[in-house]
Amino acid sequence: MPASAKRSETPVTNRTSNQKLIAWVQEMAALAQPDAIHWCDGSKEEYDRLCADMVAAGTLIPLNAAKRPNSFLARSAPTDVARVEDRTFICSKDKDAAGPTNNWMDPAEMKKIMNGLFTGAMKGRTMYVIPFSMGPLGSHIAHIGVQLSDSPYVAASMRVMTRMGQPALDVLGDGDFVPCMHTVGAPLQPGEKDVAWPCNSTKYIVQYPEERAIWSYGSGYGGNALLGKKCFSLRIASVMGRDEGWLAEHMLILGLESPKGEKTYVCAAFPSACGKTNLAMLIPPQGFEGWKATTVGDDIAWIKPGADGRLYAINPEAGYFGVVPGTSMKTNPNAMKMIERDTIFTNVAMTDDGDVWWEGKDGPAPAHLIDWQGKDWTPDAGRPAAHPNARFTCSTTQCSSADAAWDDPKGVPISAFIFGGRLSQNFPLVFESFDWNHGVYMAATMGSEATAAAENQAAIRRDPMAMLPFCGYNMAEYWEHWLKMGSKVKHLPAIFRVNWFRKDADGKFMWPGFGENMRVLKWIVDRVHDRADAVKSPFGMMPRHQDLNWQGLDFKSDVYDGLMAIDREKGREEVESQKELFESFEDKLPPEMEAQRKALLARLAEAPAVWRVNS
Ligand code: OXD
Ligand code: MN
Repeated sequence: MPASAKRSETPVTNRTSNQKLIAWVQEMAALAQPDAIHWCDGSKEEYDRLCADMVAAGTLIPLNAAKRPNSFLARSAPTDVARVEDRTFICSKDKDAAGPTNNWMDPAEMKKIMNGLFTGAMKGRTMYVIPFSMGPLGSHIAHIGVQLSDSPYVAASMRVMTRMGQPALDVLGDGDFVPCMHTVGAPLQPGEKDVAWPCNSTKYIVQYPEERAIWSYGSGYGGNALLGKKCFSLRIASVMGRDEGWLAEHMLILGLESPKGEKTYVCAAFPSACGKTNLAMLIPPQGFEGWKATTVGDDIAWIKPGADGRLYAINPEAGYFGVVPGTSMKTNPNAMKMIERDTIFTNVAMTDDGDVWWEGKDGPAPAHLIDWQGKDWTPDAGRPAAHPNARFTCSTTQCSSADAAWDDPKGVPISAFIFGGRLSQNFPLVFESFDWNHGVYMAATMGSEATAAAENQAAIRRDPMAMLPFCGYNMAEYWEHWLKMGSKVKHLPAIFRVNWFRKDADGKFMWPGFGENMRVLKWIVDRVHDRADAVKSPFGMMPRHQDLNWQGLDFKSDVYDGLMAIDREKGREEVESQKELFESFEDKLPPEMEAQRKALLARLAEAPAVWRVNS
C-alpha cells in the first residue's frame, strides 16, 4: 500500500458533509473493493508523496534535478498511448440522442458490463477520491466533479490539470457533482507484484449524458483517464450547455492586447494535433512591437452569456496536457520555458544524463537515448524515440504567457470564434462569415486531412467545430443549439475560418505559421472592432494583401494571391461532399444548414474559374 494512503487520514466527515458524495464513495468502494481509500486534499505535500510512491513503484523516473527540477518521466504500456475513440460510448436512453457520429449502447446494458468489470477491479490498490473544480473555484461558469481512481498517476495529474482537493470539496458543500468512476482495471492478488503502468486490454470510456455520469475502465492515459478533460468538460458539459443555454467547446482562449492597451479575447477550435497549444502561447513576431498575446487556455472553453449581452469564457482546466513532439523554440518558446521544471513527461525519450528528448526538439538528436518503451535508441534506429502522442503535464502557473484573467471567475469576454483545420488545398488563409448562421455552417463543415492518399486527393475527415470525438449528443442538435445562440446572445462574436496548412504545387507550406499567425489575428481583431477592410468572396469576407500588416515579413502580393485563391470547381466538389455528412443526420438536420450549403453553391456558380482576392 502506498505511503500516501498509509498516513492517518482526517475523518471524511471533517472533510465534507455531502451525504450524497459520502454514500457514493462507500457504494463504489463496495463494488471495486480497494485495499484503502484516500481522500485527496490537493496539497503540494500530497502531490510530492504521490510522486515519491510512484518513483518507488517504478511508474515515474525522476529526471536530472539540475536539468529538469522536480520533473518525472512516465512510460505507459505500449497498448495505452492515446484516447480510444472506438471504445468511447455515449449511453443516452435513446440511440438517436447520441446521433450517427457517436458510439452508442443502451445504458442498462452498459451498466451491466460496467458493474461486472468494476467488481473487485481495485483489489490490492488504493482508491483515490479526487474532488475537482472545472473552472475557477466558485465561478458561476465552473462545475464540480469527483473522480474515484485507483491510479496515483491520475491523482497527481488531476492536481496539475484541475483545481483539485479540499478547496473543491469546500465549494461543493452539499451541492451536486459529476461522478467520475475510473479504474485501470488491474486488480492485484495478495502478494502479486505490480507493473509500472497497470492497465487492461479491455477499455471502455462511458458517458451517461442524462445522469451526467462517467465510467472509465482499463486505461491510465490522458483523456481516457483524466476524466475532467474530454469526458466531463466536453462530452458531459456539451449536454449541460445544451440544457442550460451555454457552450462547452474544444477551443483555446487567447488574449490579444494592442500597444494602446486594448484587450480582445478570441476562442479558436482546431481538431487534435493542429497546433492549438502553439497558437494559445504564440509570441507576436517582428512588426508587432508593443502587442501582447496571452493564454487563458489551450484546449477547452466553457462559454456562457453574461448580463451585458456578451459571451464570457473560462478555461475549465488549470494545466496543460500538451503534445510534446514538435515542441521547440521555433514552434512554442513559451511552452519550452514552461516545461523546464515541475513537469510530468509521458512517453518521451530519456537522454544519458537524465533529461528528456523528443522528435522536433531544437538541435540534433543525441547519439544515444532510451526510447519511450525503455529500449536503447540511436539516430539510425528507424523508429521515433518519443511516442508521437507523448505529452507534458504542467501547471498554468508556470506559463509565462498566462493571461492575468486566466483564473478570473467572471471569465473573459469573447469577440471572435476562429475555426480551422489542416487543409493543403483550396482553403484560403482566412475568411470571415457573412453572419452568425453562415459562421455556424462554416464551423459545422470544417475538416482536416486524414491522409494524403494520393497527390491532390487528400481525404477530408469532417470534424464539425473540432468536436467530432467530444460532442455528448446528436451533432445535428448541437448545430441547432449553436444556431439558437444566434438569437439569444445580444453581442455575438464574429466567426472566422483559418487554414495555416495550404501547400503550393511543390508540396511546400505556403504560410510560415506559428508567430506569424499574429498577422491574421490582428486583422481579426481589427475586423471585430470595425476598422479593417475586407472583400466579398464566395466563401466569406477576406482581407486583401494591403489589409494585413507585413512589417518584418517579406510576403509578396502574388504569393498571397495564391494563398487566398478559390478554385471554383474544387470548391464546388467540397460543398457537394458535405451533403453526405448532412444526410447522415436525416430529419434532425437543421434546414438552415442545407440552406447555407445551397447558398454557397450558388455563390460559387457565379464566381470566376479561379476567384482571386487582389483582382
Ligand atoms: C487532446 C486532444 O488531447 O484533442 O487535447 O486529443
Ligand atoms: Mn484537445
